[in-house]
Amino acid sequence: MLFRLVYYSTNLVKKSVNPRDSELRKIVSSAVSKNRAAGITGGLMFNRSYFGQVLEGERDAVSQLFVRIAGDVRHKSVIIVEAVEVKERLFERWSMGFAERTETSEALNAKYGLADGFDPSALSAKNFLSYVLDIVTEDEGLISVAVPTFDG
Ligand SMILES: Cc1cc2nc3c(=O)[nH]c(=O)nc-3n(C[C@H](O)[C@H](O)[C@H](O)COP(=O)(O)O)c2cc1C
Repeated sequence: MLFRLVYYSTNLVKKSVNPRDSELRKIVSSAVSKNRAAGITGGLMFNRSYFGQVLEGERDAVSQLFVRIAGDVRHKSVIIVEAVEVKERLFERWSMGFAERTETSEALNAKYGLADGFDPSALSAKNFLSYVLDIVTEDEGLISVAVPTFDG
């Protein structure tokens, strides 16, 4: 059964304004290999304050991964935005996008009515999901990795 889980959390990797930051690189490198192996697609966005992530895949795999991520000390206050059975994937791969005051994120903040910058608590589940989708696709993802898909 194909499943999608969306959450956001408070970023505790305080200096993570640089996508090449070593702590973020560690997150990405484990995510890339483990997500590929588990058939997980989705997107991870971050800025100075927040992480936001969409995970898609088999329900068991998504749940197991989410529980592991939720226990990660590099973030806190994990808020589930959506956890739902889906017919198809929205993400073709697993990517990470950077939402800090770049041209792309400013344009997206305007599109989603976020006058004071990115604030996930101000977004509906639908808008939060499309924000993450937009940030990783419009930027082509800062780090983007193809994951084999096996839907159904
Ligand atoms: C915001 C955030 C997002 C993460 N996303 C993933 C992910 O998509 N896939 C993944 O395997 N690990 C992800 N991680 C890292 C996991 O929490 C964990 O550290 C990693 O999978 C290694 O787990 P292990 O030490 O139990 O093998 C993320 C961590 C954080 C803080």
